[in-house]
Amino acid sequence: MILTDDDRRLRDGDEGPAVAAAMDLLVRYGEALDAERLCDVRNVAGTTTQPSPVKARLVAEGGWDRAFSLINLDADETLPIPPMAVPTCQLQHGFGRDAVGVAPYPPEMIALQDDGEAFVGARGVSVLATCTPYQVGNLPVRGEHCAWMESSAVVYANSVLGARTNCEGGASTGAASLTGRIPCWGNHRDDERLGTHHVRVETPVASFLDWGLLGYAVGDAVQEGRPVVTGDLALPDLTDLKHFGAAAASSGGVEMYHVPGVTPEATSTEAAFGGRPPRDTVVFGAAERRAAYERLNDQGTCEDVDFVLLGCPHASLDQLRDAARALEGRRLADGTELWIMAPRALVAVAERSGYTAVIEAAGGRVLTDSCPAMSRTAPAGTRVFATDSAKQAHYLPAILGIEAWFGTTAECVDAAVTGRWRGELR
Ligand code: F3S
Repeated sequence: MILTDDDRRLRDGDEGPAVAAAMDLLVRYGEALDAERLCDVRNVAGTTTQPSPVKARLVAEGGWDRAFSLINLDADETLPIPPMAVPTCQLQHGFGRDAVGVAPYPPEMIALQDDGEAFVGARGVSVLATCTPYQVGNLPVRGEHCAWMESSAVVYANSVLGARTNCEGGASTGAASLTGRIPCWGNHRDDERLGTHHVRVETPVASFLDWGLLGYAVGDAVQEGRPVVTGDLALPDLTDLKHFGAAAASSGGVEMYHVPGVTPEATSTEAAFGGRPPRDTVVFGAAERRAAYERLNDQGTCEDVDFVLLGCPHASLDQLRDAARALEGRRLADGTELWIMAPRALVAVAERSGYTAVIEAAGGRVLTDSCPAMSRTAPAGTRVFATDSAKQAHYLPAILGIEAWFGTTAECVDAAVTGRWRGELR
């Protein structure tokens, strides 16, 4: 791999041992990928603070320097961790203090996470604590090289923002945060951003549910491909695109998609493909829409719902407002809980706007920082849950061994206030 003089300087220890370990990691990673060089990044979204029993042991042994060295730099020895070299944010992690008494989540993990936040905060990490950093101020410009984790955030950054990132991990983002470098391969390269599959939509896609079903079907069909979606599409809003990308990154490994006339690198269908013919064509009609819906609901048998989850990926302000409107003057059924996951920074606005008060008056809770899948936690005794998120319906049954229902936000709110699932595809 070609290294610049500055790359070599960092690798040789001019900026200290932690930066040298970070460069060593990035060079090994880049060589394994056959990357020709590293590219400069000035926007890293990773995770250091997510608590776990292993991390608790490492912190007890040698503090957060020890945990960061081993987990985020793949270094055997404990290195003093300096301030981050480039703007870096902490993504979602475990539940925080707002979940005490609500989520059955160990208090010692919350205390460990608080400690980790102090450590990284002192080194210049912005603790956004959300899977949607783009909703709370981390907005890279078009063409900007980034190093982001979290599949739903990566597909949003590439497709909706036109930024450039692969789906990184805890070690590569840790190394990127200390060096401002990442191997230049995959989504960083012009030719690997062009469309591979043409998706022809032949049934109307207009609602939040529709965009989730479309994403789930498309991810399954194209896997790691880059779909170009055309046809019977109403103009999506950012929440629809958030749902579409998260769903496509769950049933498949989509990291980049184009909607000609909507997403920034697809001024036309031809531009999205860069003049190349599509590798394959996928049709999304009424039959494919129903198949996606049935697949997302194939884990549901019991219609008694214990738990309703909204906000995966973390809710937008519009979603919080809509949930409050749907719950106004209503009350959750006995034995049913409702959690809405959202970025803490947006919850401050939701509180100020009165949305949170309405949701809590109905018996629901707005929680931050994490989600049931990330923290492997649901209300005690949950057997059946309902969600409007294709991603959460895809993952949570396997993670927690519970049944899932997937439907519209209104159907989920209905399940929360009646304790019964009455959803159906319309
Ligand atoms: Fe976010 Fe959890 Fe969904 S981290 S994308 S709410 S699975």
